[in-house]
Amino acid sequence: MAIMDDVSKVLVSEEELKQICKKLGEQISKDYEGKKLLLVSVLKGAVVFMSDLLREITCDCIIDFMAVSSYSGTKTTGVVKFKKDLDINPDGMDIVLVEDILDSGITLKYLKNVLKDRHAASIKVCALLDKPQNRKADITADYVGKVIPDEFVIGYGLDYDEKYRNLPFVGVLSPKVYENK
Ligand code: IMP
Ligand code: MG
Repeated sequence: MAIMDDVSKVLVSEEELKQICKKLGEQISKDYEGKKLLLVSVLKGAVVFMSDLLREITCDCIIDFMAVSSYSGTKTTGVVKFKKDLDINPDGMDIVLVEDILDSGITLKYLKNVLKDRHAASIKVCALLDKPQNRKADITADYVGKVIPDEFVIGYGLDYDEKYRNLPFVGVLSPKVYENK
C-alpha cells in the first residue's frame, strides 16, 4: 500500500516548507551575524528541516547532532532517553537547537538544561512546528515555523514508528493507522 494512503490531509505543503525555511534562515542569519553560532539538530526527526534551514543561513555557523527519544507510538512517555551526545564542546557557543516539533516541550526543556550546564553562551530554540495545546514543560520556541493543532503529524522527517519520514510535506496521520494497532 502506498504511504500516501495513510495521510488524512496535507498540513504544510512543500512550497510552504520552503518559505518557512527561508524566513527562519533570514531571521537567524541576522540575529547571529558575528557570533559563534552552533546549530544543534535533534535526531532523527529534525534532519530534513535542519538540512533545508542550514542552506538558508548566511552567517558563519557549525553544526552538530544529538539524539534522544521520548516517544512510544503516538504518545510521549515523559521520560527523555539520551542516545547520542554532541561531538563539539558547547562551552561558550551561541546555540540554536533545531527541532522538528515542540509538543509537550519535555525534550527541549531537558536539552536546554543539559546545554546550560555545559556553559553554552546562549541557547535558543528553532522549531519547525509548534503544538502549544499539549505543552507540559515551561518552554517556548524563539523561532517557530508554524503553529499547528494538536494532531499527530508525519512527513518531512517526522515519523510514526520510524515510518513516513520520506514524505516531502507535513501531513496528518490517519487515525486508522494507530487505532487498529
Ligand atoms: P515533546 O518532548 O513532547 O515536545 O516531543 C518532542 C518530540 O516528539 C519531537 O521532536 C518529535 O520527534 C516527537 N513528536 C511530537 N509530536 C509529534 C507528531 O505529531 N508527530 C511525530 N513526532 C512527534
Ligand atoms: Mg524530534
